Amino acid sequence: MIRNNTSLECSTLSRLIVVTGASAGIGKATAKRFAENNDKVLLIARQEKRLTQAAEEIESSVPGADVEPLALDMSDAGSAEVLQSHVRATGLPVSGLLCCAGAVPQSEGADTQDVKSVLTEWREAYRANVMTSVVAVEGLLPLMADGGSIVLYSSIAAYRGSGGTGGYGAAKAALHSYVHTLATRLGSRGISANAIAPGYVADTDLFGGRLPAARETMLVRQTALGRAGDPVDVAELGFYLCSKPGGYVTSQILQINGGSHHGV
Ligand SMILES: NC(=O)c1ccc[n+]([C@@H]2O[C@H](COP(=O)([O-])OP(=O)(O)OC[C@H]3O[C@@H](n4cnc5c(N)ncnc54)[C@H](OP(=O)(O)O)[C@@H]3O)[C@@H](O)[C@H]2O)c1
Repeated sequence: MIRNNTSLECSTLSRLIVVTGASAGIGKATAKRFAENNDKVLLIARQEKRLTQAAEEIESSVPGADVEPLALDMSDAGSAEVLQSHVRATGLPVSGLLCCAGAVPQSEGADTQDVKSVLTEWREAYRANVMTSVVAVEGLLPLMADGGSIVLYSSIAAYRGSGGTGGYGAAKAALHSYVHTLATRLGSRGISANAIAPGYVADTDLFGGRLPAARETMLVRQTALGRAGDPVDVAELGFYLCSKPGGYVTSQILQINGGSHHGV
């Protein structure tokens, strides 16, 4: 791999990047950003049709893009082996692993008097947001390139709490601790591990369609910059963390929210 020290662009003859949650929103924009850099990108999500469409969309907008869709449920431990064999078949080590897969539990907002419903929400939150990252990271660790980068996706909800009984925000906060452990475990291999914690990002499927106008207006008003985040904003930060200039950043939670929550 040839890296250019003066810019974020990496002239990559051989960089393999794995993006989970790549069929929509932040993950799709992230996969596209690496494809634009001539990286080989493995796109992962559960729904095959939507994932294939995302890969085709990237191919048609980025001439020469080298993208491969692979439909997997990353909360399922068995997906680690399938992922490993696909990566081995490329003959390349993983230079960047970006775990964008995540979801707000469908059961969020269930009757909080009912402990069973609360547990359902928390299990769903951990499965979708923690296990998806743990399966991808632990499955690919033996196949990571020394000097590679791991990026997990937290949320402003890790700082502020979330809807329902809070399972989503708590699951995102759990990723912070995991990032610190990974950075310590992998530092001797030169592998960085960080989490990105976005505020409200529009044009994603996270909220199951467009937010009610009043809620969106309220979220935008909370920002200092007066606008919602764009998936491209978040994609650029993930790209930076996997670049040579971002190589000394590790064990950090990087907030990107237009100023709607003050950084600590
Ligand atoms: N949008 C925001 O405002 C916002 C704010 C803070 C944090 N975030 C975080 O940023 C990340 C990306 O969010 P987004 O807004 O881009 O969400 P999105 O548009 O809903 O995309 C989520 C992606 O994850 C995939 N996915 C979900 N569960 C999966 C699983 N078990 N295995 C594999 N893929 C799975 C989805 O595809 P399938 O359903 O086909 O699997 C989809 O590709 C998430 O972790 C989210 O929590 C987003």
